[in-house]
Amino acid sequence: MTLDIAAIRKDFPILHQEQNGKRLVFLDSAASSQRPNQVIDAISDVYRNEYANVHRGVYQLAVRATNLYENARNKTADFIGAASSNEIIFTKNATESINLVARSWGQQNLQEGDVVVLSLLEHHANIVPWQMLQEERGIELRWIGLTESGQLDLSNLDDLLTGAKLLAITAMSNVLGTLTPISELAAAAHKHGALILVDGCQSVPHLPTNVVDVDIDFLVFSPHKMLGPSGLGVLWAREQLLDEMSPFLGGGGMILNVTQESYSAAKGPAKFEAGTPPIAQAAGLTAAIDYLNTHGLDTIRQHEIELTTYALETLPAVVGDDLKIPGPTDASQRGGVLSLELGEVHAHDISQMLDEHAVCVRPGHHCAKPLMRHYGVAATARASLYLYNDHDDVDALAAALLAAKKFFAF
Ligand code: ALA
Repeated sequence: MTLDIAAIRKDFPILHQEQNGKRLVFLDSAASSQRPNQVIDAISDVYRNEYANVHRGVYQLAVRATNLYENARNKTADFIGAASSNEIIFTKNATESINLVARSWGQQNLQEGDVVVLSLLEHHANIVPWQMLQEERGIELRWIGLTESGQLDLSNLDDLLTGAKLLAITAMSNVLGTLTPISELAAAAHKHGALILVDGCQSVPHLPTNVVDVDIDFLVFSPHKMLGPSGLGVLWAREQLLDEMSPFLGGGGMILNVTQESYSAAKGPAKFEAGTPPIAQAAGLTAAIDYLNTHGLDTIRQHEIELTTYALETLPAVVGDDLKIPGPTDASQRGGVLSLELGEVHAHDISQMLDEHAVCVRPGHHCAKPLMRHYGVAATARASLYLYNDHDDVDALAAALLAAKKFFAF
């Protein structure tokens, strides 16, 4: 199976615009993807025809809205191979999902001197919540380093995990695209009696995911990076863990009972979903998952391997040796995330020049400052690929980078 990119692109209205008389080339899906009509229509249909608050009203419209919301939970559970939809918690974003685990599981289970293991590939969202616990209660953070090729250096993994309570790690770097060996890491963490939390923000949109097969304990990911709406995050955790965890936010919807003296928490996902949840966003996520399933995550992954291979060959060939793309050189070991370094030119200047050519990339530290510091760079211009990108997009990027190189005359 291969993707029909021309047909896919027809589904994405935002890709049909021009900028400076040129076709818009969107290469920033690692920050947030675009949405097909199917998702836009599903969200708009909720507001036009199906909207009411959920888990509250008994009138038919409210019941229909509740069913839509819970259907999204079922769909999400199936999408990642979860044993039960009770294991799916909807949050505001993936960052909140990690904070939920740090505040709830972390505060219950981590005491002074307890160890959490991270890696140098982590996004700040999977660093700062643990550093907050480090400040507040003196937990110890240990870091998995990197090899020359930007992969995890697992040579001292047993030492790092000795005495650890949690390994919190990304499945795919948002800077280098590096894929990490999640099954192997989960087995190692469990051997040492630690749990494993996986940041799937960059992997879940692009690769098949099965939480049971890889035997992990927590997974977070971002619907807005997988063709769905923003304002919604997902936390998956094994049901027993969720049962043992205390609520994160207090308020309506998360209680069994409230008196003037105290409260008791609801059972199931409601315990972690205080307040009115992201209702229309959940319906958008259902449509996004349907869209991804229609094309198939295996097929999407194959497309991205092929396109990343093309980019890794084409960009240096067109632009020259001044262009550096750190990270694994074999596309089967990485996602379609390409951090571009062009001689001494600052990433913001590159990105602005590319914008003149209607090529959208993200400059900056990509919320991964420890990783950037490891490479001795302040910023990169990051291009990231998805199912709607094709060879023409990579060629447009190459041409724009060459123009930037000539403009800066080196
Ligand atoms: N985490 C997103 C990125 O890597 C925003 O750009």
